[in-house]
Amino acid sequence: MKTAKGTTRTAAGARGHAAAPRGAKPRGGRGEEVLSRLRERDDFVSGADMSRALGISRTAVWKHIVALREAGFVVEAIPSRGYRLRGSPDLLLPSELQRGLATGFVGRDIHHFDTLDSTNRVALALAEDGAAEGTVVVAEAQTAGRGRLGRTWYSPPRVNIYTSVILRPSLPMAQAAQVVLVGAVAAARAIASLYDGPPQTPPRIKWPNDILLGGRKISGTLVETASQGELVRHLVLGIGINVNLAEKDLPEDIRGIATSLAIACGHPVSRVELARRLYGEIEAVYLRFLQEGFKRLATEYAALSEMWGRPVRVTLTRGSVEGIAEGLEPDGALRLRLPSGNAERILAGDVQLLR
Ligand code: BTN
Repeated sequence: MKTAKGTTRTAAGARGHAAAPRGAKPRGGRGEEVLSRLRERDDFVSGADMSRALGISRTAVWKHIVALREAGFVVEAIPSRGYRLRGSPDLLLPSELQRGLATGFVGRDIHHFDTLDSTNRVALALAEDGAAEGTVVVAEAQTAGRGRLGRTWYSPPRVNIYTSVILRPSLPMAQAAQVVLVGAVAAARAIASLYDGPPQTPPRIKWPNDILLGGRKISGTLVETASQGELVRHLVLGIGINVNLAEKDLPEDIRGIATSLAIACGHPVSRVELARRLYGEIEAVYLRFLQEGFKRLATEYAALSEMWGRPVRVTLTRGSVEGIAEGLEPDGALRLRLPSGNAERILAGDVQLLR
């Protein structure tokens, strides 16, 4: 049986982290164990019991309680009775994410950070170091979140999801782009499962990986791949989802074209619950793709996309091209029917729906 592992730091005892830049703090250790003990009981847990069970002093237990409070947990303390957990912040801590996580391998090992430059960068470094398939990196904020086509991904603290999953499919590099679509289907399904906004604007995929709500972008995926000869050695599926970002906090350059789940639904949404669902969907969609092939994935993708048969403009590095979005090529590329009647394969570009 696989056991869940997490690195996080809610209290004293942070572990070092090879892939993390200076200043990034992986959370972890005994603070997480103190939290688990508090969660196990809906009642007070005595400091003495906790100190015995964890093999640490009562002063150390107290220090972890203080750190948990600093992280936003509400912990009641009564000298004669001990400690009781009264409330949790919506932080993407491994212990929170792994509670009720129904996956076999995705998210069994979670590396959580307050702030990182990019979860994709750290996940790639961990993959190089041999991290297992399904290992997750998640951060509360990113300072240099990477977007497609060399852009940056707006990543303010504690409102959204920024996460990367290491995958090791046995595939030729030529098929790596197919896995890119796994991220879009998984994100769309996870978002749809918590979406209760206007029914006429459910989450929809725009090729390759944008998820739109009412025509505005809520999520993007960036896949970065390492090869070994002709084969994929590993790849990192990085997903950003705007969850509780408020309209007023959208930077000017993306106002009007970006949105969040909270804006669309009209109320805050649990990031922990959404991230759990995302990991579940990533595993399920990925396994279906590996077992049943690209055709099945393409069918799921098509059902969640509303661009087929519509006129689009695609911005490429060499200019732009207009045509009708016809469907996916077997390698995941976009097939565009040009006004001349010829078909064009688009491997990378920005798609704008014209009607
Ligand atoms: C896009 O441009 O649409 C793709 C955005 C991908 C952003 C996510 S956030 C988590 C992961 N880490 C990164 O640096 N980028 C991806």
